[in-house]
Amino acid sequence: MNCPNCGGSGEFAGRICDKCKGSGEIDIKLLLKSCGENVTIHPLAKIVKPEVIEIGDNTQIDDFSFIYGGQGIEIGKNVHICSFVSIIGGGKFIIGDYASLTAGCRVITGSDDFTGEYMVSPTVPTKFRKPNMADVVEMQDYSVMGTNSVIHPGTTIKEGSVTGSCTLITKDLEPWGIYTGTPARRVGERSKNIIDLGREYARGIKAEA
Ligand SMILES: CC(C)(COP(=O)(O)OP(=O)(O)OC[C@H]1O[C@@H](n2cnc3c(N)ncnc32)[C@H](O)[C@@H]1OP(=O)(O)O)[C@@H](O)C(=O)NCCC(=O)NCCS
Repeated sequence: MNCPNCGGSGEFAGRICDKCKGSGEIDIKLLLKSCGENVTIHPLAKIVKPEVIEIGDNTQIDDFSFIYGGQGIEIGKNVHICSFVSIIGGGKFIIGDYASLTAGCRVITGSDDFTGEYMVSPTVPTKFRKPNMADVVEMQDYSVMGTNSVIHPGTTIKEGSVTGSCTLITKDLEPWGIYTGTPARRVGERSKNIIDLGREYARGIKAEA
């Protein structure tokens, strides 16, 4: 068997040969839990713990994004994760098909306890802290976070909802709304026309295959 990263036939302990493992020149896609077809991960995207991350077809992750796999990340099809997005906190994150995190958004999947009862920061041993990573953050199909929005642990952006720039999401957002503000408030309704467009696009992909 040849190494899928360098094509050579070296010693193997995992999916790629030992030489590649030590070289630091590894195609990050080979380290993911799973990776669909036609996925683009730009070279300056930083992905930590790729072995717990699943990525669907046609998804794109831009340079200068930071993704920490934490307790697992499921990324759907045709998802766009723009530059300067960070997915942090160590919990679980799920993002559905045709959803987007636009530039600078922050997904927080877990946090230390800020009440003062416990210490905050990984620089002190865990027994002095009370990090909570029990809650999943989810963005459902067709949802979009506007630039620099922040989503807190345990929240769901339901199907088709969008946030304006700089929105703070502390509670679930109901489907097909337009939300803005700190904290987020529903200020408008979003058209569902994109569902038909999405179906048309998917039919086109099937016909091409
Ligand atoms: C929220 C948003 C979708 C509304 O767009 P729109 O319907 O064209 O709205 P308008 O620009 O006409 O603004 C309508 C009102 O919302 C306010 N508003 C617009 N964007 C806002 C935001 N991000 N937060 C708070 N209020 C906002 C406007 O001040 C205006 O208030 P007013 O009625 O009191 O004057 C849009 O402003 C936005 O934030 N888009 C996100 C763009 C983005 O992040 N793109 C990612 C890069 S591709």
